[in-house]
Amino acid sequence: MKKINNIFDKILINHKELTKLEKRLAREIENYYGDNQFLVVGVLKGCLPFLISLTQKFKRSVQQYFIKTTTFKGTVNTGKILLEQDLNLDVNGKNILIVEDIVDSGRTLSYLKELFVSRGANVKVVTLLDKKVGRVVPFDVDFIGKEIPDVFVVGYGFDYDEEFRNLPYIATLKKEYYTR
Ligand code: IMP
Ligand code: MG
Repeated sequence: MKKINNIFDKILINHKELTKLEKRLAREIENYYGDNQFLVVGVLKGCLPFLISLTQKFKRSVQQYFIKTTTFKGTVNTGKILLEQDLNLDVNGKNILIVEDIVDSGRTLSYLKELFVSRGANVKVVTLLDKKVGRVVPFDVDFIGKEIPDVFVVGYGFDYDEEFRNLPYIATLKKEYYTR
């Protein structure tokens, strides 16, 4: 267990601002789909607080599904993405909205988008945060909560070594608390 006193640099986004971002995103997404149905596919685990809060702001029912990815860790860091938990659903002809916590290198989402498009889905992506400076693979996100610089964030789904996901705000860790 980690005590959180003195280990954060600063609160980057407080809960009030998160709620505001989510209200705007919910409106943008519903305006985009109009009367068309769509279902949400969350990328575990980081998406959870965001996905729950975002979908509660829709004025309609949406089905929720979850997948899980991991970055392959071999002796060489190839950045290869593995699907640890797949969708148990035929997405052919369906509108799916992938819900991510953050886009950094772009590897996870370009892999996932390609996968679901190859299965016949119409795919859009919403991310709470976009670290555009981190891109290794070009990837444009359809709906963005907020663009952030190249800092490491924790809280509201974001973890460092599985800690801090439960916090209701997003903070940056002091440099001495992480290595990467
Ligand atoms: P990428 O776009 O494939 O590099 O993957 C982004 C994934 O890396 C996210 O889904 C997060 O799990 C993780 N990630 C990237 N930046 C951060 C951060 O600042 N804090 C916590 N996790 C991060
Ligand atoms: Mg993630």
